[in-house]
Amino acid sequence: MCGIIGIASNKPVSINIINSLKKLEYRGYDSAGIATLTDNTINEKKCSGRVEELEKILFKTPSNGNIGIGHVRWATHGVPNITNAHPHSSEQVSVVHNGIIENSDEIKKELKAKGIKFKSQTDTEVVTLLITEALKENKPLESVFKTLKKLKGSFALGIIFKNFSNIIIGARRGSPLAVGYSKEENYIGSDSYALKSMTNKISYLEDGELCLLTKDEVSFYDERLKKINKKILTLSENGSSADKGEYKHFMVKEIFEQPDTVKECIEEYVDSSKKNINILNFPIDPQKINKIILIGCGTAYNSCLTAKYWFEELTSIDVEIDIASEFRYRNLKFNAKNLYIFVSQSGETADTAAALDICKKNNIKTCSVVNVIESTIARNSDWVLPIHAGIEIGVASTKAFLGQLTVLYILCLKLAFVRKDIDEKTYVKHVTNLKKLPDAIKKCIKSENNVQLMAKEFISAKGSMFLGRGPSFPIALEGALKLKELSYLHAEGYPAGEMKHGPLALIEEGLPVIVLAPMDKYFEKTISNMQEVIARGGKILFITDNKKESLNENIRFGLRVPHIDNLLSPILLTLPLQMLAYHVALLKNCDVDKPRNLAKSVTVE
Ligand code: F6R
Repeated sequence: MCGIIGIASNKPVSINIINSLKKLEYRGYDSAGIATLTDNTINEKKCSGRVEELEKILFKTPSNGNIGIGHVRWATHGVPNITNAHPHSSEQVSVVHNGIIENSDEIKKELKAKGIKFKSQTDTEVVTLLITEALKENKPLESVFKTLKKLKGSFALGIIFKNFSNIIIGARRGSPLAVGYSKEENYIGSDSYALKSMTNKISYLEDGELCLLTKDEVSFYDERLKKINKKILTLSENGSSADKGEYKHFMVKEIFEQPDTVKECIEEYVDSSKKNINILNFPIDPQKINKIILIGCGTAYNSCLTAKYWFEELTSIDVEIDIASEFRYRNLKFNAKNLYIFVSQSGETADTAAALDICKKNNIKTCSVVNVIESTIARNSDWVLPIHAGIEIGVASTKAFLGQLTVLYILCLKLAFVRKDIDEKTYVKHVTNLKKLPDAIKKCIKSENNVQLMAKEFISAKGSMFLGRGPSFPIALEGALKLKELSYLHAEGYPAGEMKHGPLALIEEGLPVIVLAPMDKYFEKTISNMQEVIARGGKILFITDNKKESLNENIRFGLRVPHIDNLLSPILLTLPLQMLAYHVALLKNCDVDKPRNLAKSVTVE
């Protein structure tokens, strides 16, 4: 993964590089580094850990220089320490890299055979040393171009040169790279968000392209080094802010924003007076859709799985779901009448982007459900359905998950109606119920104090289980995913009916088991499965929207969420699980917004 930034300016750049790196920390936070050019010398500073540490180093020993590059790392090759932190510099050049050089071992061997020495264990250092070699006979742009030809894998690169002190070169293959423009200052960055405080004028490099920036101009080159022109886009303004405000963490702020983000999302798609959904221009005639295939990773995959139950319930269309990293390597039989939907908060997830590319190569029309509308996945899709959640900074996805669910549900209703799978009365009923969702979410959030009590049950637990049936099953998966990523406590999400086929063996006295039991057609079955857990000593934490169910002595803790409609219960059941993961993480003193080993945007395979 990793995040890169480069600034060419008429004034010192280190402070702006640090500020951008803070915004890029969602891409990695193992280590950080910066290199600037001062008096024709590459001045490199690095630290292990967070950008804050780098800032302290710069505070004590400032780095001057009107040109510079910076990096936040999510380790792939070599442990996260200062030596492996980027930039990787030689006498002549300094390089920051996001991606993976797949043939780095081979290149290392060749360079070592020539007597060239390596300082780090990273794949990136081969780029530094290849460019350094090429510079002996070539100018910077040609040297980079020749180096790129030798590389396999994915990269976004930012490079500065000791003897060419006014330029930065950027290059892209696989990993995203944005270019920003301002007066007497130009930028490269892993995303537009990192540049947003400095400019709203952006271009994006496509695969194989390079750019050369000075403070006054930017030139672009294609994969044959032919000069090209690029469109300049103006970034959209977004209501939600990128600071924590009154909240202790971004995650809790984002959880509390959900009544508003879901409301905005509904308002974007639903015509309030006509009770109609404004989704038009389907890439495939809705009547002719043969199958829907939903693809995503992690939390986005869980939203695909939830939507599968909705599409199956309301439409006559067959539905498949897939994890993007599996989809991209399967021997698929593509069908132009299938609707392939890619779900991603960031729109930059490498596996999801690659899966989408495969569809494109097979002449398949693609649809994406994304949060970041300037992202690679959104730009490469034929049809984009934004979730309008606003920027999500907490590494654990919360409001984007609800946004994905809301958009997929809206799409499902629209498809069911235009295909005449449901009649107008049913359609209007569901649209009317949908509008009740933001208030119901608000009510769920009010149960935070109870969830806090529930969280205490997990402090000394060895593990935990989350059970649900039907559309509550993906929510069980999502609850378990949130808990493990935030509190490092083992958690398994399971379809409740599957317990007896193995996982029941895990149940022992006092093991916390969250049971999701909304008042749907699975309710009685779920209760029976719960009894099997109780009989084996499991400590039941019961979440339902059933007003009638009285909580008996076998249930350690019960929580009620509001009920609107059975189809919408997965959305409401999510809220207590997000808050639970948050409070368990707080009790265990974990870094809520930046859990260990993770990153917000997963731009490597
Ligand atoms: C979990 C989480 C991840 C992401 C996954 C996909 O809380 O955030 O599982 O959902 O990495 O990311 P996007 O949605 O950006 O493609």
